[in-house]
This record gives sequence, C-alpha cells and structure tokens, in this order.
Amino acid sequence: MARINDNFLKLKAGYLFPEIGRRVAAYTEANADKASTLIRCGIGDVTEALPKAVQEAMHKAVDELGCRDTFRGYGPEQGYGFLREAIADNAFAGLDISADDIFVSDGSKCDTGNILDIFGKGNTIAVTDPVYPVYVDTNVMIGNTGEGDENGRYEGLVYLACTAENDFVPAIPKEKVDIIYLCYPNNPTGASATREQLQAWVDYALKNDAIILYDAAYEAFIQDADVPKSIYEIEGAKECALEFRSFSKNGGFTGVRCGYIVIPDSVFGSTATGEKISIKQLWSRRTSTKFNGASYPVQRGAEAVFSDAGKAEVAALVEHYMGNAALLRTACTELGLKVFGGENAPYVWVACPAGLSSWDMFDKMLSEANVVITPGSGFGAAGEGYFRISAFNSRANVEEVCKRLKALL
Ligand code: MLT
Repeated sequence: MARINDNFLKLKAGYLFPEIGRRVAAYTEANADKASTLIRCGIGDVTEALPKAVQEAMHKAVDELGCRDTFRGYGPEQGYGFLREAIADNAFAGLDISADDIFVSDGSKCDTGNILDIFGKGNTIAVTDPVYPVYVDTNVMIGNTGEGDENGRYEGLVYLACTAENDFVPAIPKEKVDIIYLCYPNNPTGASATREQLQAWVDYALKNDAIILYDAAYEAFIQDADVPKSIYEIEGAKECALEFRSFSKNGGFTGVRCGYIVIPDSVFGSTATGEKISIKQLWSRRTSTKFNGASYPVQRGAEAVFSDAGKAEVAALVEHYMGNAALLRTACTELGLKVFGGENAPYVWVACPAGLSSWDMFDKMLSEANVVITPGSGFGAAGEGYFRISAFNSRANVEEVCKRLKALL
C-alpha cells in the first residue's frame, strides 16, 4: 500500500473556513426558513463586482486568445513582463524593487504555503498567535512540527503572542529563530504595525540571519499615512524579507486568483555546510518546475488594477469596505464591547461579551442573529475570547448586522 505523508494526520480535523462552512451548512439545513436572510461575515471574501477596468482587460485578453494571430500558449512561469513591470512601477515605486524581483502566482494562500518548498529541515520557525492558519498548517504538512496540543499549538513552532497589551504586534523573541511570519495589516486582528515595530523586526532578522515572510495582502486598506505599506519601506528589509501580495482583497480577485511574491536579490539562505544561496534563485527554479504561470486573461486583469481607471475603482472598493468596518466598529463600541482593528484593515476584532468563549459567540451569533462570524480561537490559542467580523459585504448587509448585534446584546 502507498505510504501517506503522516504529517497530515497531525492536523486538526478541518481547516478553519471549511469547518465554519460545515457548521453553517448544518445550521441552514436545520433552519431552512432562515437561510435566505443569513449574513456571512466569516471568511474574508469580497462581495462587490470586479472593477470595470479589470473586466474590460480580461475580455480583451480572451478575445486575443480567440484569434490565431494574437493567441498565446504557455506564458513565462514567473509572470508576464507587462504585469511584473506594472507591479514594480506602481506598488513599489521608489522602493528599488525591480520587475525581476516579482514572481506572479495564482494567489497568496498558495504562495505562503509553497514557499516552504525551498527551506530545509531544522529551521526554527516563528508564527504569531493568533495567526492566519495557512502558515501553521503548511508547516505541519511538510513535517516542520511535532504533534499539536489541546490548544492546537504544535510542538516545534515558536508562538509569538499578539495581545491587546502589545497592540497585536509581537515582542521580539529572546531566542534565535530562522524564519518569521508577519502579516500586517493583520489577519485576523486588523492591527497595523508601525515603522518602529517593523524596524525592530528587520534589525532582529539581520542580526540573527533570519528571514521574514511578510504577508501584506491587506496593504490597500491602510488609511493612516504613517503606517508602512511594504516591508521594503524599512531599512535593511531588502536583505532579509520576502513580501507576499495579493489582488484578492483590493481588486476583488478572490475568485479570479492572482498574487505575487517579491524576492530581492539580496536575500540569502544557507546550505547545511554554510554556503550562501540566493532565495530568489531557488524560488525561480521551483517556479519553473512546478508552475506554468497564472493565466493570461487574469494577468491582464491584474495589470488593469494599476491603470488610472483601475486605481480609481480600487480606491472606491476600499472606501466601501472600510466604511463597513467603521460601522461595525461603532456598533460594537456602542454595545460596550472592546473593539480592535477595522481602521487600517477590513477586519474588526472584538472581545467576546463576558462569559462567552469564541465558539460560544459564534454559535450565539449564528443561532440567534443569523450572522456568521469567525471565532477568534480558530486562529490560535491567543484568539480565544475574541471574534472577528469581516467588513467584506454590501452596505445593506453590514447595516443589518449592526442592527442584529444591537438586538442580540
Ligand atoms: C480570511 O478570511 O482569513 C481570508 O479570507 C482567508 C484567505 O484569504 O485565504
């Protein structure tokens, strides 16, 4: 019989969002009369239509593929030059990031998981707690951890607590770690990191020969001019950080799928014998072997995000979702709940009413308010006692959620 990868058996039964989906499906089956008025603020999935500029670019690209003279087959594995250049010129203007540093993919979820292919065994890996579950589960799958405990914490990972006391930005660890996952603006807490906080992390990474895996999927939602949008705004980051970006949340690409990793030439890892190896060279090799590039129409659509019309439409989408976040923040604050996030990120992170655990609150919201939220403990032990409300929704639905919250509490 074929041997399986036993590491998969260490995983908790279900990935958080499918698990929530299963519970919601069971609830709607038992309460069919409520299904049509259920409001989903669980998974951070966009709801508004793709920008017109994106639609037009994708239509045009499909027409090109439909004509022999303009047809294209396999594209470059790392992404088309037109998109890599548009990203470098627009998303990293003035930061000395070149098109050649950018690797286009079918989304950040895949990228943050797949990046582990190029790192060896024996690294000490740090994740925040709470955390986007993909970082943890992919480390479990590849064998970088031992077993999980009853809180879902895996032996072998260093957990960096993100609490209200540290504004959900972890303290620099005393021990030496080799790889650190940071996500700002943060999923799930909605917190943002200041320049000084990120500088401290970059300084730590440089001192310890560590690599920061910086997930900036939510950078478009930053409202505060002082909050860095990219890790490369921080001195020294080009020597120690990779940045993950996505078109999912700004351009509405959760269903279209497109993201990218930035890997400067100056980030290195080492072999077992201490030889320095370029991370970019390894990722490029990995990409050409395992990936044939994101599809041409999708890359044309992503390019259009950076057109004048695209930028204006993305700005309007961000304004819409951040308007939702402000309403949710206000409603929860008025109820006397402790509210975090939602100012530079589309997630509002709320302390549960006294006496309720995260899953209690999830059940209460589902069964009594007909609203899906995400239980904080699903993101890690330190998320217990919190719940996350996603601001990705229509304005009408968010207004209704605010009403239902007020009626419920
Ligand atoms: C979330 O709800 O945390 C995100 O939508 C998940 C994701 O982007 O994969």
